[in-house]
Amino acid sequence: MIDNKKVLFSGMQATGNLTLGNYLGALKNWVTLADDYLTFYCVVDLHSITVRQDPAELRKRARNLLMLYIAAGIDPQKNCIYYQSHVSGHSELAWMLNCYTYVGELNRMTQFKDKAAKHADNINAGLLTYPVLMAADILLYQADVVPVGIDQKQHLELTRNIAERFNSIYGDVFTVPDIYLGKAGRKIMSLQDPSRKMSKSDENPNASIYLMDDKDTIIRKFKRAVTDSVGEINYTDEQPGIKNLLDIYCSCTGKDTEAAVSEFSGCGYGDFKLAVGEAVASELIPLQQRFEELSKDKAYVDSVIKENAEKASYYAEKTMRKVRKKIGFPERIR
Ligand code: TYM
Repeated sequence: MIDNKKVLFSGMQATGNLTLGNYLGALKNWVTLADDYLTFYCVVDLHSITVRQDPAELRKRARNLLMLYIAAGIDPQKNCIYYQSHVSGHSELAWMLNCYTYVGELNRMTQFKDKAAKHADNINAGLLTYPVLMAADILLYQADVVPVGIDQKQHLELTRNIAERFNSIYGDVFTVPDIYLGKAGRKIMSLQDPSRKMSKSDENPNASIYLMDDKDTIIRKFKRAVTDSVGEINYTDEQPGIKNLLDIYCSCTGKDTEAAVSEFSGCGYGDFKLAVGEAVASELIPLQQRFEELSKDKAYVDSVIKENAEKASYYAEKTMRKVRKKIGFPERIR
């Protein structure tokens, strides 16, 4: 809570091509929630370097991601959209919180285990302590709520534990945040293997819808989506492919599952897939157009970057002053 307003924090990594999973699991909810909170939407570029990055590419992706937040409908005049690397409090607090986090806790993180297996040649300490930086992101702004996809749930639980541990030593320093999960889009699955999450790093391009895919590509990928031989449209775990398509459809249209199931009762899979593709395209095409316009307006985007970094730093520094004092660091003499 800041100035009597509840605080919302969330972020995305500036790596890979964003997918429909990122959009429906997070970005779309950010837009819906924006008006009710004091919001911080961060491009978490510091998180990206746990995996080797090409410098020019990282810079470009970070800027594109920031523009995408705006293109998705988040007003940078009312919401703080900024780069993590522009606010030094993130790294400073992460170091401190490292000292209140156990290696055992970090070793249990499933994303760490997955990423370590994937990047066996570069299991750096950052990969292990990544969730502590994430906790720092959130606690730095005293966030009440964090809208994310379900894959981030374990990291959120760790954040809560770290906050509670710190508070139990030093008193009420941090707000203990709640996770916010959207209704239908909390876990969008791969179009080629509905038992796996849709992921930026999937090697099969047909498995994911990328936010910049054009309409023909979107429709083609949905036509190829793996389903089953049941031949009926039901919302059930027995039909994970169809269930995923219904989730995507409901998430894009705002309809509830029951309404969608009855809308498509008796409909063939081909027509159903086409309808899902159309719903996704009508969600993404306007976003792509706004993105194109923004890419041409360098001065405007630069001004957003500058002003919001200052705003975020102001709030971050408020927390940092409190934390430094509580831990016992000598006061700065001005
Ligand atoms: P990242 O960049 O992997 O993903 C960004 C957001 O997208 C959600 N998401 C999905 N939701 C539904 N279905 C999917 N298939 C899917 N794939 C991704 C993620 O849950 C996430 O909300 N560690 C975070 C970034 C981060 C962060 C934070 C988030 C850093 N600090 C503080 C919240 C608060 C990450 O790597 O997300």
